[in-house]
Amino acid sequence: MQQVNNIFKLREILSIFRQQNKKIALVPTMGNLHVGHLSLLSKAQEVADVVVVSIFVNPTQFNNPVDLAKYPRTLDDDLVKLAAANCDVVFTPSVDELYPKDNSLMTGVRASQAAQYLCGVSRIGHFDGVVTVVSKLFNAVNPDVAIFGRKDYQQLRVISDLVKDLLFDIEIIGIDCVREDSGLALSSRNNLLTEEQRFRASYLYKQLMLSKERVMRGDDYLQIETQAIQLLQANGFVVDYFFICNADTLRQASKQDVNLLIAAAVFMGDVRLIDNVEVVL
Ligand code: PAF
Repeated sequence: MQQVNNIFKLREILSIFRQQNKKIALVPTMGNLHVGHLSLLSKAQEVADVVVVSIFVNPTQFNNPVDLAKYPRTLDDDLVKLAAANCDVVFTPSVDELYPKDNSLMTGVRASQAAQYLCGVSRIGHFDGVVTVVSKLFNAVNPDVAIFGRKDYQQLRVISDLVKDLLFDIEIIGIDCVREDSGLALSSRNNLLTEEQRFRASYLYKQLMLSKERVMRGDDYLQIETQAIQLLQANGFVVDYFFICNADTLRQASKQDVNLLIAAAVFMGDVRLIDNVEVVL
């Protein structure tokens, strides 16, 4: 496995693979890797000859400096996990490498309309930061395919729009969320939960599944949302949103929609967790 933190060197390494007609996959991450990330890597290995994993905690997608500061950084462990999983190249740029100037002085990318709902309401500018850094990573790596998790469904949606709208010739593949036995979606943020909070956090997925059953039974969406929020609050969560939406537009779902997403963002203590389930009627 080669580790590189410089774009020039990265391009040099990848140009050799490209001359050999190797298909290149990119798995963008912010590190603190868990089994969920490794499932993205394993999909990438299935569909491509060479896999690049990037590890970069992107400052421009955090609208809260405290959140950015406490984001878990575990590079040494991550490198061990990637080497054991036969990753080919790890790209670990510094902030200066990707943002050599103050971000406000640099060209940025504005995320599509899908960024305005769900997490976009409370995390102003978050998806602009995501699509900006993902564009930089796409241009640095120039992959044939890039892999993202469906746990961050809205991010996947916004990145699919980015690729279509800005004509990146890159196939985007979304991979199902990996869960703990309790149902809790794997996330780097779970490491910030206490044992007790982690146990209680698994109720979020249970509530999403109960709501999915009710959607499939034809219950009223507003009632499902309101009761889910009450039950989550009763179980110790502070709810940012719990929303049944059209899975393509991410706008509030109507009874005519057949592809739905039930998405939630909650706080357990001061840790923000997101999760979702997809429903096809
Ligand atoms: O999902 C993430 O870890 C990040 O948002 C991403 C896609 C690596 C961009 O920083």
